[in-house]
Amino acid sequence: MKSSACLPALATVASATVGLLVPLYEYPTGTTATADWNALIAAVDAHPQLPFYVVINDGNGPPFSPNPPSSMPDWAEWIDALNKRSNAKTIGYIYTTQSTRDYATLTAAVDQYAAWTYSAGFTTNATAYDIHLDGIFFDEIDTDPTKLANNTNLTKYAKTAFASRGGPIVLNPGTAVESGSESLFDLADSILQIETCYTNSTGATDPGNILRCPTGGYKPFTPSLPASLGTNATRLGKSSIVVHDVYQTWSPFEAASLSSLETDIQSVVSAGVHSFYFTTYGYTANFTSSPASITEVAAYAAQIQNLS
Ligand SMILES: *[C@@H]1O[C@H](CO)[C@@H](O)[C@H](O)[C@H]1NC(C)=O
Ligand SMILES: *[C@@H]1O[C@H](CO)[C@@H](O)[C@H](O)[C@H]1NC(C)=O
Ligand SMILES: *[C@@H]1O[C@H](CO)[C@@H](O)[C@H](O)[C@H]1NC(C)=O
Ligand SMILES: *[C@@H]1O[C@H](CO)[C@@H](O)[C@H](O)[C@H]1NC(C)=O
Ligand SMILES: *[C@@H]1O[C@H](CO)[C@@H](O)[C@H](O)[C@H]1NC(C)=O
Ligand SMILES: *[C@@H]1O[C@H](CO)[C@@H](O)[C@H](O)[C@H]1NC(C)=O
Repeated sequence: MKSSACLPALATVASATVGLLVPLYEYPTGTTATADWNALIAAVDAHPQLPFYVVINDGNGPPFSPNPPSSMPDWAEWIDALNKRSNAKTIGYIYTTQSTRDYATLTAAVDQYAAWTYSAGFTTNATAYDIHLDGIFFDEIDTDPTKLANNTNLTKYAKTAFASRGGPIVLNPGTAVESGSESLFDLADSILQIETCYTNSTGATDPGNILRCPTGGYKPFTPSLPASLGTNATRLGKSSIVVHDVYQTWSPFEAASLSSLETDIQSVVSAGVHSFYFTTYGYTANFTSSPASITEVAAYAAQIQNLS
């Protein structure tokens, strides 16, 4: 066993490792939230061959004034902990309002994240915590070809700004890239092409009473959904999938089973995507809730790919 570990495994040669794209938008203070952050760090350590792309999202991202934001002491130890682990990459959240947000604001947001270096945290040592970021996550991208020029320039801008960092530039349209914008696959490291619920049931709401999984207009996740991304291995290898609300029914609440989660994760890994995530509820809490806890999702991702 030990000597064969030195040889490249056939599966690794055939395709890249499918990583986790973790939308941990949870403010890292308080018992519940820090339990989630600790579970993430434990999962990163438990699976050293599994890449973790962790979206850092403090209050919907830049512009920050000052930069880094005054909230940084709360975040510093967690970003530093991820930066200490070679299989974790930190990526900064920027929303784009369907690719219409002012271009100068967007490039300034990229620059703000690129400027993060060290933080004192709650200490008096200015370099106590390494808070650099490795990449960018652009949310609310619209891949309508009329916006291709702006999406192209923005992606190139971020690629250049983060060229030496080794983390991905991820675009999130949440749906399949529209015909005419396929050239984005040549620029981005990954495009989140499927962002949807697992459950078919409605009723769960966000603050403001917004339905999380509305009937009509969205396709609940099933193991056949990754096939909708087509068969081009290059594009699949630059695609991400994120599935939230992983429960059977909301009211009365019935949890999803671990075996269906495993089947779903198997389908995503088999598709050969860049990265994925499943979460039991949303992105701001419940990362230790069963069945789609960070612990279980990471364990399946590693086990299915024979990774340590
Ligand atoms: C696209 O970029 C151009 C030039 O940078 C800018 O004038 C325009 O406002 C941008 N459009 C959108 C929708 O952001
Ligand atoms: C500040 O913290 C860094 C990182 O822990 C450490 O390497 C450095 O020695 C510290 N500097 C001082 C002056 O304590
Ligand atoms: C994109 O960048 C190119 C090259 O810098 C520039 O000519 C073009 O005007 C830009 N387009 C938009 C929409 O910003
Ligand atoms: C949702 O409905 C589809 C189609 O009927 C079914 O295949 C899938 O298993 C259902 N998902 C859940 C979570 O019940
Ligand atoms: C597969 O996708 C890549 C990247 O978009 C593209 O360059 C290539 O032409 C595609 N291959 C086919 C057969 O369509
Ligand atoms: C999410 O977490 C909250 C607080 O811990 C808990 O009350 C709730 O039941 C959880 N929801 C799900 C769907 O796991």
